Amino acid sequence: VKKSEVVRLILKERWRAAPYHLQANAYAPINIALCKYWGKRDQELNLPLTSSFSISLNNHGATTELKINGKENDEIFVNDILISEDSVFSKRLIDFLDLFRHDHFPRFTMIIKTNIPIAAGLASSACGFAAMTLALDKLFNWQLPKDKLSILARLGSGSACRSIWDGFVEWQVGVSADGMDSYGIAIPNKWPDLCVGLLIMSLQEKNLSSREAMQRTVMTSPLYQAWPNKVTHDLFILKQAICDNDFNSLGKTAESNATTMHATMLSAWPPVSYAIPETLHAMHTVWKLRDQGLAIYFTQDAGPNIKLLFQKNDIQNVREHFAAVDIVEPFLEI
Ligand code: DP6
Repeated sequence: VKKSEVVRLILKERWRAAPYHLQANAYAPINIALCKYWGKRDQELNLPLTSSFSISLNNHGATTELKINGKENDEIFVNDILISEDSVFSKRLIDFLDLFRHDHFPRFTMIIKTNIPIAAGLASSACGFAAMTLALDKLFNWQLPKDKLSILARLGSGSACRSIWDGFVEWQVGVSADGMDSYGIAIPNKWPDLCVGLLIMSLQEKNLSSREAMQRTVMTSPLYQAWPNKVTHDLFILKQAICDNDFNSLGKTAESNATTMHATMLSAWPPVSYAIPETLHAMHTVWKLRDQGLAIYFTQDAGPNIKLLFQKNDIQNVREHFAAVDIVEPFLEI
């Protein structure tokens, strides 16, 4: 199934080549997976091999402004810098926009502003594509329900389907070939005490995309066959932990899910590792603090940075040990 067919299925009579407004903008948060998406059953539609589960980081994300520019080409600015048309990032964005227009017209100026580092494993592509989808919805006045927006965002980047929502989100694996049953669903439970600490170890762009790395893992890792069972187990425990307000169970499950994903990657060939020495150092610090009685856990995505999980009561303690930590309270009303 082609992306364009899915777009047609979703937009139906809403399809219009001509935008309704000349300009639109939208915001979407980054999301951190507590149970990861790692492996696809369909590369074209970004359909996953397993479900996944995340938490959106309310005030950390991307704002995307779309303006019809009347020019021959699209222009993309990321944090005020004009991005080359030949870069992988702009190609992905332009291919995505092409799904919603005829023969590349109209052309857009896209102004993307993030308050997080791009491509350092902080899910910036996820919030970028989610914000882009929400901006397109406004520009063309589709007024689509969120499940359909989630499917469209997934066509840009898999994990983007979770950034359409705030709070806890489950991305259901689905079974259909066109992916119409594979989208993010908001889990209504709130956890006001939950904190996520972002530890930025490197602002360097990663040299292997998560897209390539997950495909390599699926194709070559002898451990990958254990991954779907691990996800089923972890999803069940995570949802239980949220219902029971059991922080240690949530933290342990999220950390173990991340370390299992990274162990599986490391066993791919050629091996994949996103860790740098600072990453390992932070992990050892978390383990030491836990031995000393602090309820702190971590997770890591396709980059060297570590995301800490802890509760509000321990903010001071966490700041003492991680001076540079950027603390997010995902359920804080802002
Ligand atoms: C490690 O969503 O970036 O962050 O679908 O190829 O665009 P594509 O991959 P992407 O992968 C994210 C992987 C992850 C885990 C997660 O967020 O669940």
